[in-house]
Amino acid sequence: MSSQPEHPTLLIPGPIEFDDAVLQSMSHYSESHVGPGFVSTFGDTLAMLRKLFQTTDPASQPFVLSGSGTLGWDLVAANLIEQGESVLVLTTGYFGDSFADCFKVYGADVTQLKAPVGSRPQLPEIEKALKEKKYKAITVTHVDTSTGVLSEIEQLSALVQKVSPETLLIVDGVCSVAGENIEFDNWKIDGVVSASQKAIGVPAGLSISMFSGRAMKVLEERKTPVAAYFASMNNWRPIMKNYEAKKPSYFATPSPQLIHALETSLKQILAAPVSERFAKHAEVSDRIKKAVADLGLKQVASKPEDQAHTMTAIYLPESVKATDILPALAKKNVVFAGGIHKEIAPKYIRFGHMGVSVLDPKRGDVDRAIKALQDGLAECGYQKA
Ligand SMILES: Cc1ncc(COP(=O)(O)O)c(C=O)c1O
Repeated sequence: MSSQPEHPTLLIPGPIEFDDAVLQSMSHYSESHVGPGFVSTFGDTLAMLRKLFQTTDPASQPFVLSGSGTLGWDLVAANLIEQGESVLVLTTGYFGDSFADCFKVYGADVTQLKAPVGSRPQLPEIEKALKEKKYKAITVTHVDTSTGVLSEIEQLSALVQKVSPETLLIVDGVCSVAGENIEFDNWKIDGVVSASQKAIGVPAGLSISMFSGRAMKVLEERKTPVAAYFASMNNWRPIMKNYEAKKPSYFATPSPQLIHALETSLKQILAAPVSERFAKHAEVSDRIKKAVADLGLKQVASKPEDQAHTMTAIYLPESVKATDILPALAKKNVVFAGGIHKEIAPKYIRFGHMGVSVLDPKRGDVDRAIKALQDGLAECGYQKA
């Protein structure tokens, strides 16, 4: 039984429901951020992140910074790209557009390959784009949280290796890390940026990322200084290295309580092979998607191979408005999110299924949500044709 006060089940695509032990570890007594206890916790946490990202290359560099997922975009744009350098942004929804905006702020020359809503740019068009122009980096949103579209990182990496091996492969894993398989070394990824509040299962407030040795070399070989201060990897990299070596170090104050929560969550995540965690997310996702299809509803991500396992974006029947179904669900103590993709926003809702809601069947979160959706739609007058 959870020790949390009764509350509506939060099944939006982040923040997710949190495990009791993770929340309790945030009520840790105050300690110095440069004291041996906390330095050891931070060091262990960084070492565990290597396992979550499936990297054993000592040149890979984890960063855990106070901030949200968006800070990961700034890290990439401010540190790995210089003014006027070209970036190819694969866009499968709202978050690809925002990543592109972030690059523009730092003066990058941005090309976006946009897929029609509900699909993703296809490999032949990506190959054509990579052959037409030299790109310093290509970015992909692993799961775009606005559409529930999953991108295929392994195949994309093979293509980049074949056509433009010097281009850095950067993955926005905010809605995928710890819910979808990511093999950092095997897939030759140069950067994954993520955040605490989704499948990693920790309250919002941490930007969590991993960069390759090659990305670090790009940073070292910059011709111009990094035009950021808090987001400068040059400021943080030595601190992360020191923490991992269990040496006290300071650039800006970290949040000890959030780091404790991350340590607890990573210990839980790594208590079993990560492949089991990903398989469970896929199994529960399949069950949800079948329930959605049984209701006669379509998903925004149209093809099964393009559908994320951490969330489902569901088109509403024409007769039902998001402003009717979301309150109906809330009355049943289930919180889903509305649409945010500007082309289709009022027409769909989003169901996040990550972390404890997926992994702990005793909670009954997913079954309760499916039942609430069925009953809520019926109350809104919907009947399957
Ligand atoms: C795929 C993706 N990228 C980036 C972000 C931005 O993260 P944050 O809201 O934590 O800044 C989000 C947020 O939901 C996201 O889903």
